[in-house]
Amino acid sequence: MSPAGDLGPLEVRIARKSVTNAAGQPVEVLAHLAFRLAAGEVGALIGPSGCGKSTCMRIVAGLDARFEGAVARPPGPLAMVFQEPRLLPWRSVEDNIRLAAPAVDEAELASLLKPLGLAEHRAHFPGELSLGLARRVALARAFAVRPALLLLDEPFVSLDGPLARALERELVALIGRRPVITLLVTHDVGEATRLADRIFVLSPRPATVLGEIRVERPRETISPAEARSIEDQVEALRGAA
Ligand SMILES: Nc1ncnc2c1ncn2[C@@H]1O[C@H](COP(=O)(O)OP(=O)(O)OP(=O)(O)O)[C@@H](O)[C@H]1O
Ligand SMILES: [Mg+2]
Repeated sequence: MSPAGDLGPLEVRIARKSVTNAAGQPVEVLAHLAFRLAAGEVGALIGPSGCGKSTCMRIVAGLDARFEGAVARPPGPLAMVFQEPRLLPWRSVEDNIRLAAPAVDEAELASLLKPLGLAEHRAHFPGELSLGLARRVALARAFAVRPALLLLDEPFVSLDGPLARALERELVALIGRRPVITLLVTHDVGEATRLADRIFVLSPRPATVLGEIRVERPRETISPAEARSIEDQVEALRGAA
């Protein structure tokens, strides 16, 4: 179990979010999108491309206040890994992490860099890194902040299968060690099953929650049959939309 601490929940109630497209027309991106995560829980948003997942994440992060509704975040630091790694190009790997988390000490930095395979890259600049390495730096930076709320927008996309699985395991270990609420976006039902306590299946745009699937812990013991059943539930929710 995660050390839940005294964190409050994450409560997301977005009644409506619209944007104006290039032609000046209003486009409804999110409609009646609501969900809740309790202290220590991991939630996964699954939905078709362009349905509004990143828009939702920006609202949850507090980066976009132009919506109808309310978001209650747990008190404490927030860290977000964007869909693109977004590192400062003129700063080394180590400085990118230290700028976000000035309190991080050498031992903690080393304990973050090593399992993510970044120990030998700490003096490198983002331009010298592959996309996979840059994604790992973005993850290390997010963990270094010791967030109460961790938001991950497709953190393992474009990584090869074995590396993605290895990073999933690191993520599970890291969030298991700290009191944190985690919300991640993924297209991969298997990834959601391996990481999340609750999977929120989203509709095409405007995104709403079609249904929620609980994944029972401990997830290490989830059988292939249970994993298939979760995939079937996701498909059933999508099909009923
Ligand atoms: N500022 C904006 N101006 C115009 N359209 C926007 C704006 N922001 C988002 N959109 C539109 O809203 C929709 C949702 O975008 P968003 O990036 O949230 O989707 P997504 O679910 O994250 O997609 P993907 O899976 O491809 O990452 C898209 O159709 C996008 O074109
Ligand atoms: Mg997105």
